[in-house]
Amino acid sequence: MKITVLTLFKEMYDGFLNSSIIKRIIDKQLVEINIVDIRDYSNDKHRHVDDTPYGGGAGMLMKVDVVHRALLDNKSDSSHILLTSPKAKPLVQKDLERLSKLDDIVIVCGHYEGIDYRIEKYCDEKVSIGDYVLTGGELASMVLIDGILRLLDEGISSASLLEESYNNGLLEYAQYTRPYEYEGDIVPEVLANGNHKEIKRFNLKSSLKETLTYRPDLLENRELSEIEKELLLELQKEKENGN
Ligand SMILES: C[S@@+](CC[C@H](N)C(=O)[O-])C[C@H]1O[C@@H](n2cnc3c(N)ncnc32)[C@H](O)[C@@H]1O
Repeated sequence: MKITVLTLFKEMYDGFLNSSIIKRIIDKQLVEINIVDIRDYSNDKHRHVDDTPYGGGAGMLMKVDVVHRALLDNKSDSSHILLTSPKAKPLVQKDLERLSKLDDIVIVCGHYEGIDYRIEKYCDEKVSIGDYVLTGGELASMVLIDGILRLLDEGISSASLLEESYNNGLLEYAQYTRPYEYEGDIVPEVLANGNHKEIKRFNLKSSLKETLTYRPDLLENRELSEIEKELLLELQKEKENGN
C-alpha cells in the first residue's frame, strides 16, 4: 500500500512516523508513506499558498490551483483521494477497514480556513474525524494512517482485532493484567479460573455493559442474540438492585 499526504506542515509527521507500531509497519515495508509539501507547488516567488476569500469573511483560504497541482503531481490513475474536512460524516471503523484494502491513497490536508471549494471535484471522498474543527487536516490524516496501518499489521493478531471495540458492533469488554490486586481492587475471579466458556460469557456481559453505559445508541438497531438478551436482562436486574 502507498499513502501520500499533501500538507503545508511536513514536520508534524516526524515523530508520528518514527515511533512505535507505525514505524514498525513502515520498516516492514507493508506501506510506503510520502509526505509532500504543498508549498512546493506555489508559483509565487514568496511561496504563498493562500488568499482572501471572495465575498469577504474571516481568514485565508488555500488556493485551488496550488493544491490541484500538488495532487496531479502525486496521484496515479488508481489513487483514492481523501479530502480532510469537518464537513463530512465522521469516520468509523468500517471506513478504515474499507480504506485498508486500497493500494494507493492520497490524503489532502487543509489549513487556515480550509481550501477553495473547487478542490472537492478532484477528490473521491471527504473524511471528517469528528464533529469538531481542528486547525488543519494533519492530525486527521494521522488518525487515518494510524487506523489503516494497524489493520495491515501482522504483529497485531486478527483475534485481537476481532475483539476490539466497534468490530462486532459493541465496545470492548473491561480488561485486566497483573497485579491481581491493586489498592484493594481485585481482578474478577472468573478471569483467573481458566474456564473459557465462563470467561467468554463474562466478557460478553462486560462488553454489553460498557456499550450500554457509553454508547447505548450502538444497541438500538442491533439484532440481539439470545445470549445477549439474557445478559442484558441480568445487567438490568443488577442495576435495579444497585450493583
Ligand atoms: C480550520 S479547518 C476549516 C474549517 C472550515 N472553515 C469549516 O468551518 O468547515 C482547516 C482544515 O482543517 C481540517 N479539519 C478541521 N477539522 C477537521 C475534522 N474534524 N476532520 C477532518 N479534518 C478537519 C480540514 O482539512 C480543514 O480544511
